[in-house]
Amino acid sequence: MIDIEKFIEEVQSSLPEKVGDNPVLLLISGGVDSTVLGALLLKTLDPRLVHLMYMDTGLMRKNETNNVKALLSKLGSVNLHIINCEEDFLSALAGIEDPEAKRRAVGDTFIKVQERETAKLGIPDAFLTQGTIAPDVIESGNEGNASLIKSHHNVGTPLVQAKKQAGKLIEPFDKLFKTDVRALGAALGLPEDTVKRHPFPGPGLAVRILGEVTREKCDILREADAIYIDELKKRNLYNEIWQAFAVLTNLRSVGISGGKRSYGRVLALRAITSSDAMTAEVYPFNLKDLFEISALITTNVKDISRVTYDISSKPPATIEWE
Ligand code: XMP
Repeated sequence: MIDIEKFIEEVQSSLPEKVGDNPVLLLISGGVDSTVLGALLLKTLDPRLVHLMYMDTGLMRKNETNNVKALLSKLGSVNLHIINCEEDFLSALAGIEDPEAKRRAVGDTFIKVQERETAKLGIPDAFLTQGTIAPDVIESGNEGNASLIKSHHNVGTPLVQAKKQAGKLIEPFDKLFKTDVRALGAALGLPEDTVKRHPFPGPGLAVRILGEVTREKCDILREADAIYIDELKKRNLYNEIWQAFAVLTNLRSVGISGGKRSYGRVLALRAITSSDAMTAEVYPFNLKDLFEISALITTNVKDISRVTYDISSKPPATIEWE
């Protein structure tokens, strides 16, 4: 665990000097890392220099975009660019089933949209800052001899490379782990809900929907996931868990709905404990909680007829299914 006060002091003394009067661009994902970095930038620099860009890829969790908008405005953001690019992402993902191909499609679309939208901002000389944390770097195989486990879109895009070469890439969190970032967020006064939020992968729901990604499947998964997460909060379980989410499998199964045969989708629930996401253990739910949550989901999400619980640790499984 790093010394948070010292870390803030260091950033606050070095960053203004480094960027001078230049604008700084941060791509906000809605996740903890980029949100905490956004808060730190807004506290450290003149907010007029801080451009926050959030892309609504259509692969986000329920109400994500509105929540991001509300929080960042509250933190004093005056240059908040919300980009609706669901169509770009869903059309790029159409017909793709392979997990790495999906990650590449999402990554390529991020690059395309990033280039298109950043060009519109008219700040070509801006510094680029990213909330990349240590495990992102390690697991993307960008460091030494670590092998590629999954391609993470947010490390090493052409925009990032260009800014790096120009000496305009700033990654203040690259030696930090999630626990450090959380402590930093709390020290910066971010709401507990934000700081303790479970991690969310860059490719979003695309890696939580097995098989082809469609808007309909995203909507189903968003609903089921929201019920699951709400219940964990109501039951005071959310903060005991490192990461919990629902996965929409590409299986259908026979069930009964309104006394009739149904042939609905199979949903998997995942909940793990971890200290840094490099390894993970299955969260040992009381079965009663799981049974009740399962019933709530099958009752309220009409397309889901069956719910399963993933009991695999990492390794051998990874946290995300794809
Ligand atoms: P895995 O599935 O590799 O996930 O065990 C480890 C942690 O990383 C998150 N994850 C990602 N985060 N971009 C990110 O920023 C990504 O492409 C990505 N893929 C996985 C995952 O949710 C878990 O917390």
